[in-house]
Amino acid sequence: MQILDGKLVAQAVKDSLKQKVDALKKEGKKAPHLAAILIGHNGASETYVASKVKTCEELGYQSTLIRFEDTVEEQVLLQQINELNADNNIHGILVQLPLPKQISEEKVINTIAAEKDVDGFHPSNMGKMIQGQPAYIPATPYGILLLLEHYKIETKGKHAVIIGRSNIVGRPISILLSQNTPTGNCTVTLCHSHTRNLKEICLQADLIVAALGKPEFLTADMVKDGAVVIDVGITRVEDKTKKKGYAIKGDVHYDTVAPKCSYITPVPGGVGAMTIAALMQNTYLAATKKQ
Ligand code: GUN
Repeated sequence: MQILDGKLVAQAVKDSLKQKVDALKKEGKKAPHLAAILIGHNGASETYVASKVKTCEELGYQSTLIRFEDTVEEQVLLQQINELNADNNIHGILVQLPLPKQISEEKVINTIAAEKDVDGFHPSNMGKMIQGQPAYIPATPYGILLLLEHYKIETKGKHAVIIGRSNIVGRPISILLSQNTPTGNCTVTLCHSHTRNLKEICLQADLIVAALGKPEFLTADMVKDGAVVIDVGITRVEDKTKKKGYAIKGDVHYDTVAPKCSYITPVPGGVGAMTIAALMQNTYLAATKKQ
């Protein structure tokens, strides 16, 4: 069993981006500038956004963090996005999800200019991605592909089972793994809450992506010997023995699943680390296309 070290691969991606950004600046060009909008005080969202802003600093990017209370009116948020769309100094825009109930996620995503949509959630980017055209690929699926590529994991002809059909992870990774690309050519089964015989389907998988958000859901009896297991879960579970009062759990019961796998991602230090590196890659792309 080999661990897919997201921290290590993310660092390699970030080192390469930092070098490229230093070179951009030497040429007198602008550093990439990411604007992040955070609404409310959700603990996990606060952590993710802080981490995105900190990574921008590490790489020499500019970042702007805009905060709203969770009572913000939809119109105010949409107006802010339109201002960022029109601002030539901003290359990438992200609105951290989930959003408060009074705000339509669909309207927010559709309002972000497609060329600044470094999350890759805009229908224009999703549509292009589905057709295999150049597009911003959502950061978590993109991070998974970068991991598979780094460890030279053969995907061609493999049966990939995805658990979870979210627009952010499950659905896009199901499409990407099925495409005719070096990290694709899988036969894909996309499973969700209405899937029957999930255990039997998982037992047929050469590659499993667990992206349903249920801690330790995937257990050893669901995994074939030699499978590759990618754990996308990052759920906070109360744990009084920890300083913060919680532990981070993946969607995979790691201790029992890991011994059966050829490769597995740990939590933390797996997919999560890659997500931010992939977002930085998209933001670099947005900045260089613009200039
Ligand atoms: N919430 C959970 N994952 C993501 C992500 O990749 N982007 C944004 N904007 N919000 C998220």
